[in-house]
Amino acid sequence: MIKKCLFPAAGYGTRFLPVTKATPKEMLPILTKPLIQYGVEEAVEAGIKTMAIVTGRGKRAIEDHFDISYELEHQIKGGSKEPLLDEIRSLISKCTFSYTRQIEMKGLGHAILTGETLIGNEPFAVILADDLCYSQDSVLSQMVEVYKKYNCSIVAIEEVPMEDTNKYGVIAGKLVDGTDDTYRVYDMVEKPEPKDAPTNLAIIGRYILTPDIFDILRDTKAGKGGEIQITDALLEQAKRGKVIAFKFKGKRFDCGSVDGFVDATNFFYGKES
Ligand code: G1P
Repeated sequence: MIKKCLFPAAGYGTRFLPVTKATPKEMLPILTKPLIQYGVEEAVEAGIKTMAIVTGRGKRAIEDHFDISYELEHQIKGGSKEPLLDEIRSLISKCTFSYTRQIEMKGLGHAILTGETLIGNEPFAVILADDLCYSQDSVLSQMVEVYKKYNCSIVAIEEVPMEDTNKYGVIAGKLVDGTDDTYRVYDMVEKPEPKDAPTNLAIIGRYILTPDIFDILRDTKAGKGGEIQITDALLEQAKRGKVIAFKFKGKRFDCGSVDGFVDATNFFYGKES
């Protein structure tokens, strides 16, 4: 039912300078796989085959990663290293990748609007690759199930320490009867200071959006940080009762920060060894 997944991947990754000077932050590895590959794997697990990636200048490595590398593949053919490519080869064979460039960095909402040309008029998923998730059923699979029930936009949330609300979009909602993890959202604020935050329920980088979001984004004025915020556009849907916030089961690592990145590395290393 959800066939496409959008990956906003145009950001500069300034928190990881100098490595992000010439390397896209989405290509930073957790062990031997780049962050964006984990995101694509999660989308595939949720039954999605079409990956729509919003890139920018200096992001060519992402396109090359999801392609064949003839020279390299020729070199290692038949050797002991060849199986190291099995996983990415199999992933590439399962999906298609399309790209568009965000020319100016005007925020996450603007990046998502830039992706409209790749998505069209259908509901779609969004993965922010620097939020790395790990769970039995992938977070996006869990959200697709929620979408099937409510047929409206879905955001994934988790409780964060109150002092961290200024790092996230924060929601206020009413628990849907008979659930303890599903909220009908009535308010959302982008990165509020703790004293202004309605709750400590923070949006993490997983969304399912209905396509009317594009028209709303076109009319959304710059908000927090002078950027067009997806949180502000979603608030318009929420006012009509059309946003559900879902407390996913699983772990999330903020790989946009050095601490979260190291935690994720240790966690995945512990799992493999
Ligand atoms: C973006 C969104 C924010 C959300 C966060 C999740 O912020 O604007 O609402 O909570 O992703 O990671 P960013 O982390 O890109 O500043």
